[in-house]
Amino acid sequence: MSFSPHYRPSSNSTPSPLDRDLATLSNYHQVLTKHISLDWEIDWTKQVIGGSATLQFEVKDDGGVKEVVLDSSYLDISDVEIVGSGEKAQWSLDKRIEVMGQALRIQLPTSRPVPIKKGDLISIKITYSTTPQCTALGWLEPAQTKSKLHPYLYSQAQAIHARSMVPCQDTPAVKASYDAKVRSGRGLEVLLSALRKDVRDLGEGRREFVYEQPVGIPSYLIAIAAGELTHKPFEKLKDRKWDTGCWTEPLNMDAAYWEFHKDTANFVKTAEDLTSPYKFGTYEVLFLPESFPYGGMENSCLTFATPTIIAGDRSSVDVVAHEISHSWFGNGIGCASWSHFWLNEGWTTYLERLVSFSQPVFIGGYLVLTIRAGLIDDLERLPARFQKMVPEYKEHEDPDEAYSQVPYEKGANFLLYLERTVGGLDIFIPYMKDYVKTFEGTSITTEQWREHLFAYFKKHEDGEELTRKLGKVDWDEWLHGSGTDLCAEVKYDDTLSKACYDLAARWDKARDGDVSGFSKGDVEGFSATQKVVFLDKLESYPALPPKTVAALDKLYDLSSNGNAEIGLRFFETALKSGPEYAEAAAAWVINKGRMKFNRPIFRLLNEQKPELAKKTFMDNESFFHPIARKMIARDLGLKMDQ
Ligand code: BES
Ligand code: ZN
Repeated sequence: MSFSPHYRPSSNSTPSPLDRDLATLSNYHQVLTKHISLDWEIDWTKQVIGGSATLQFEVKDDGGVKEVVLDSSYLDISDVEIVGSGEKAQWSLDKRIEVMGQALRIQLPTSRPVPIKKGDLISIKITYSTTPQCTALGWLEPAQTKSKLHPYLYSQAQAIHARSMVPCQDTPAVKASYDAKVRSGRGLEVLLSALRKDVRDLGEGRREFVYEQPVGIPSYLIAIAAGELTHKPFEKLKDRKWDTGCWTEPLNMDAAYWEFHKDTANFVKTAEDLTSPYKFGTYEVLFLPESFPYGGMENSCLTFATPTIIAGDRSSVDVVAHEISHSWFGNGIGCASWSHFWLNEGWTTYLERLVSFSQPVFIGGYLVLTIRAGLIDDLERLPARFQKMVPEYKEHEDPDEAYSQVPYEKGANFLLYLERTVGGLDIFIPYMKDYVKTFEGTSITTEQWREHLFAYFKKHEDGEELTRKLGKVDWDEWLHGSGTDLCAEVKYDDTLSKACYDLAARWDKARDGDVSGFSKGDVEGFSATQKVVFLDKLESYPALPPKTVAALDKLYDLSSNGNAEIGLRFFETALKSGPEYAEAAAAWVINKGRMKFNRPIFRLLNEQKPELAKKTFMDNESFFHPIARKMIARDLGLKMDQ
């Protein structure tokens, strides 16, 4: 099928106000970054990265572009040069706008004999250093690592933190390839979200790491990690070109390898079979220290993951299935602005489930409940405008602020609903492949996605009937509606989760009375995931009395459970019931860097014992990554300097 240029992001025109990314200060509709070259030195003593970034731009606009405007945040810029002109460029930094940072304005030379025109390439080299206020970088003291011997550094750029590491067009609408030369001392390893090309020994424990990312990626996928790290490849699949493997601190390697070596390559293969060939060359997972603020982050070639998913029973491999799925949705087809973030996360969640349901460790339908519980909780907490699948941001609003299960679960449920509307997977998978083929490598809006969907099904052999069915879908309600539940009923297979629901219902009935009918045996046959399903269901009932919660804990060993997903649900249940478990929850949360775990617990703790919540946070603030630090402080109503 061929499409008019209309289906491609029309890069030579100013985007409509709705589709303009309001979280960038850059003039990305006038000039477009094609490539970034990074030349960096890690300064472990000052805890900054210094060096240069050379950006190559293509001019998109014939109308006399006079300046390049880039995003920057807390960068110390010392020099800007238009490469090849031999001239220093005129540049200035605008006043800081909260969260957005400072626009870096670089004047283009007026002395050129011919005016700058569409298609021209311009290279600009910016010499700079990050500063201690950098929001992307987490600098860990040796005590915060497993071996406690060496410092550690890692980045988290999504949503808009890349600008605190690199001056750039920090928007998912722009995709550029990159290369990097990064030097580090102390004998420590450096990893980037790209392909490793060379490691050069510079003597005295100093090395230079050379990387290349030939595929165009959005700025939020630029990532770095450095520390005491070891690598182990996973087994190669005979008929596939790419490699998989993992990086961890040495003491985590055996456990991480055991947990993920069986599934990782199979997940990539299954996802490929459902979409298109994997195009990033290698797929590695880096397990970070406990403070990593997310479960996983799909940095190109190198997923960053929390070590809490090394659960000992392979029960969290879905996180890796999720990050792998981003290779097509997010890293392949991108969103044109954060309003269309569901195109990344909803599609990824949908594919993640197709990929992971084919694995025997998964109980068909179990996710449904974990999903629903998380989604409903978030919908109830969020203001109406962030209950929408396609939220409208205000100018300069922080996309991290709207982070919730909505784009993931409303999105994935919507796709499941559409899958069923058109008649199931046999029809939906070929459509998904066509969607990937059509838009891979570009960044699109929800409207472009929908236009393609209709165009595809119109051409289907049952086109008339299918487009009629699709026409009946309540598009406006799904995409732009708010409210605390899904707008249509989506049914799931609950064969294996039924035991979990039934047990939860029994506890609900016994809430005020005798718990002698319960025993350890109730959950003996349950997997960790089934316990999560059970606790999620229990959370959907009104809060239990504290003494029932204590009985539950005693029987099923929940507060001391090593699986953080179980711990999270238990402490939520307990804190909804009363302050009895406040101290235990406070002790549990101080080493949970993942925001999925720490934010709800801090929020609930703050409702029960505000002073304890605030003290616990302030005493442990340095443990958390800057992004988590800021979000928790906000949740607790504390003022931060930023
Ligand atoms: N890309 C996200 C993480 C993210 C989103 C970081 C927005 C910053 C801003 C990643 O793919 C993700 O969704 N992680 C989930 C894992 C899960 C759904 C399996 C997480 O961290 O919980
Ligand atoms: Zn994701």
